[in-house]
Amino acid sequence: MLSSQKQLFDILDEVAYLNTAYMSPLMHSVVAAVEEGVRLKARPWTLKIDHFFDDVEAAKVLFGELVNAPAERIAVVPSASYGLSTAANNLSLSAGQRIIALRHQFPSHTYPWKRKARETGGDFVEVDIAQGQAATPALLEAIDTRTGIVAVPNVLWTTGAYVDLLAIRKRCDEVGAALVLDLTQSAGAIVTDFQKIRPDFAAVANYKWMLCPYSTGFLYVDPAHFDGRPLEEGWVTREGARNFASLTENPETYAPGAIRYDMGERANFALLPGVNRALTQLLDWGVQSIENTLAARNAVLCERLHAVGLTTVPAENRGAHFIGAELPKGTREDLLSELAKENVFLSIRNGSLRITPHLWNDDQDFDRLIDALQRLI
Ligand SMILES: Cc1ncc(COP(=O)(O)O)c(C=O)c1O
Repeated sequence: MLSSQKQLFDILDEVAYLNTAYMSPLMHSVVAAVEEGVRLKARPWTLKIDHFFDDVEAAKVLFGELVNAPAERIAVVPSASYGLSTAANNLSLSAGQRIIALRHQFPSHTYPWKRKARETGGDFVEVDIAQGQAATPALLEAIDTRTGIVAVPNVLWTTGAYVDLLAIRKRCDEVGAALVLDLTQSAGAIVTDFQKIRPDFAAVANYKWMLCPYSTGFLYVDPAHFDGRPLEEGWVTREGARNFASLTENPETYAPGAIRYDMGERANFALLPGVNRALTQLLDWGVQSIENTLAARNAVLCERLHAVGLTTVPAENRGAHFIGAELPKGTREDLLSELAKENVFLSIRNGSLRITPHLWNDDQDFDRLIDALQRLI
């Protein structure tokens, strides 16, 4: 169990910020790293060719450690949508084949698949699960020999519904389907092991549970797709790109591994040092310890939420770090703004109240939440 890490963040004592599913705050150390990084561009004569490579390469190593994957399988992307569109463009689907997804999963992970189905004569099938029910059995039942691609999250962004990715992987192997993941609501908070899950592609937007700056992310790519087509035809992803003086003389060949999928201007001098600082802190804490801590605290918090009349997704059906609660009928429309007036911050998505604390929270925050809910619900 980890103790509260509030001192590492810029959070006032009177603020109970319980909304990681929306946007994490940045640690002081991350802000300092970003400030130092942005100064390089203020004085471009201090910017070395190494700056175009070193932080990117370090970020891939650190993220690889976090998800148990070699750095050569990681690409740097600006968003989940960028990574998931890359995936959709590099997987084949035949007419009549199906793409299986969860109903109401995040749009960055549905639009590319809807387009793919339209353009190939395939079907985009959304598996519906009622709030509180288990997602994995419903998905397993939907995956059959007609399935070409399974495109799911580890944890649903609205209710926190949990998908057992090892079970899904096994079923994909049985029917020969590709597996594409959006791990934006889970990576960094619960243990993710790509050696075991073996996704074809997995995208993460970093600004939530990864505690990183906005507009940064990663795409994991299985070696089977190392020869695919990137969204952009960049220059820095080619063999010999370090040789700035004669780039036009270089061969068109991409550098090996997943590098070809790196975004244009991937060497973000301001943001990448912040990403690396956040990843280093996550690794220092250890994802298993983060998961255990959030799981234990959320179990206690759920009991208290039940006592004030909320129904939460049962622990066995939700991500350990993520509480989705059903609002009682007749809950006031202005609940979130009233909570915000009391400096308690949550979000509602598709009627599900998301309560997503992290290591910066302490007992005082939970007391403040329960006290406010008691009066407002
Ligand atoms: C599950 C999930 N994926 C992705 C995103 C963000 O997507 P993008 O990086 O494409 O803006 C969010 C944001 O709420 C999300 O909840």
